Amino acid sequence: MSQDSIPVERRLLLESISDYLAQLGEEGLEGIPFEAPPADARAAAAHAEPFVPAPSAAPARHHQPVAEAGPELFSIYPGLEKTRTLEELRQFIGDCKRCKLAASRTNLVFGVGNPQAELMFVGEGPGADEDERGEPFVGRAGQLLTDIIERGMRMRRREVYICNVVKCRPPGNRNPEPDEVAACEPFLMRQIDLVRPKIIVGLGTFAVQSLLKVKTPISKLRGRWQEVRGIRMMPTFHPAYLLRNPGDKRLVWADIQEVMKALGKEIPSRKS
Ligand code: URA
Repeated sequence: MSQDSIPVERRLLLESISDYLAQLGEEGLEGIPFEAPPADARAAAAHAEPFVPAPSAAPARHHQPVAEAGPELFSIYPGLEKTRTLEELRQFIGDCKRCKLAASRTNLVFGVGNPQAELMFVGEGPGADEDERGEPFVGRAGQLLTDIIERGMRMRRREVYICNVVKCRPPGNRNPEPDEVAACEPFLMRQIDLVRPKIIVGLGTFAVQSLLKVKTPISKLRGRWQEVRGIRMMPTFHPAYLLRNPGDKRLVWADIQEVMKALGKEIPSRKS
């Protein structure tokens, strides 16, 4: 049956079921009965397949900017607005006990990279490897992010800035809870203000929904420019999702190409 012969209501229903399943898949629910390749293919892709840019480029689609958080965001932590460098911000955060994640973390994972980066990546929160090492995106998903930056964008990882919505690992890699996000949000906003990148890339459902304060699935948001604290933000899929769904790397590459265009960078051809 062709797409056109499906009644419109049914097509919309199928699309919204498909979005919902994609979102559940991205959030790590196992057993989604479509798209995900077999486990052995996923494992092979995770270990053997580096990020190789796909040739297709999606057209640029621009969206309405989303309202920013105002200065009252900092009022829960008096003095935060006075921090002038990332080091001062890190000192301000200190041995943080402001939310319940502190009890189970090994290291607070603040962020790494160039304090004057043009490009900032924001993920969800540290996993086990990051908690262990105190650095964001150093596990398998981190290796893929590094590939995207270094092999895809032809930039060095140390040129960009990388951080997360929450700075401490949620136990068992569960999603951060609203009170935990609220406790950490002023720190992320200050980090954004201090780095002042040209472009932010929001990685995955959770980071993008937290940055934009929306519940829209990432499958609807990805590839569409947004705005966070006056900075253009490109939502895309999380590298951990790509490990499970390597077929969607071409969509991430399309998003990354938009980012490169916005940064005035040459887009490498696939083979060069
Ligand atoms: N996933 C994230 O969102 N952040 C990390 O630092 C690692 C994995």
